[in-house]
Amino acid sequence: METTLEHLVSMPRIGDEAPEFKAITTQGIINFPNDYNGKWVILFSHPADFTPVCTSEFITFAALEDKFKKTNCSLVGLSIDGLYSHIAWLRTIREKISFNGMRNIDVKFPLIEDITMEVAKKYGMIQPGESKTQAVRAVFFVDPKGIIRAIIYYPLSLGRNFDEIYRALIAMQTSDKFSVATPADWNPGDDVIISPAGSCGIAEERMTTDSDLKCEDWFFCTKKLSKDLVLKEVLKN
Ligand code: BEZ
Repeated sequence: METTLEHLVSMPRIGDEAPEFKAITTQGIINFPNDYNGKWVILFSHPADFTPVCTSEFITFAALEDKFKKTNCSLVGLSIDGLYSHIAWLRTIREKISFNGMRNIDVKFPLIEDITMEVAKKYGMIQPGESKTQAVRAVFFVDPKGIIRAIIYYPLSLGRNFDEIYRALIAMQTSDKFSVATPADWNPGDDVIISPAGSCGIAEERMTTDSDLKCEDWFFCTKKLSKDLVLKEVLKN
């Protein structure tokens, strides 16, 4: 097995095909990303089973699983622990732990056993400056064609913001469906950004012709996109 530092920190990038792997999980064997063809999938890592921040995250993610499913998105977790540790931890979560008013939470999405770190290394989830033995909190958004579309990394001590993870997913699906971009802090119902003018003529037209666009300047034009339309398109995925 390769153990160079370079190998530990190599990571796929936005726009790359998601690296393939076959893994044992709490829901059986998965072949990634092939088993998820035609679906979005969020592949996320956490440092270790039976740790408090991770437990709060798993309860939160599991409680939101149906919301993600409605947007055609599956969840897959990973840590550098074995299958039996995963099973014991998920049983403990269901039987004993409550967080933010959520209790008796059944984690139904697959949790990968990665004791060999094979998957964690492929996805750059080991960041040696933070830990050489535990995965950081990585989030990979993989689209229905198996392409990595966004990546978020958090350190060990910082629990993720799941509203942001959901917002990013909806924003990327909205960009795909409506060929628009989304500005800072965008949420469904907010104005969206149309592609920049590609010629002097279009730039001029945008600044002088009445239309449903709102242009701050020739390069910064927005238009309305109703929340109903966004949700109708995204939820029918
Ligand atoms: C936690 O999940 O609580 C945790 C895990 C590793 C390091 C620090 C915190």
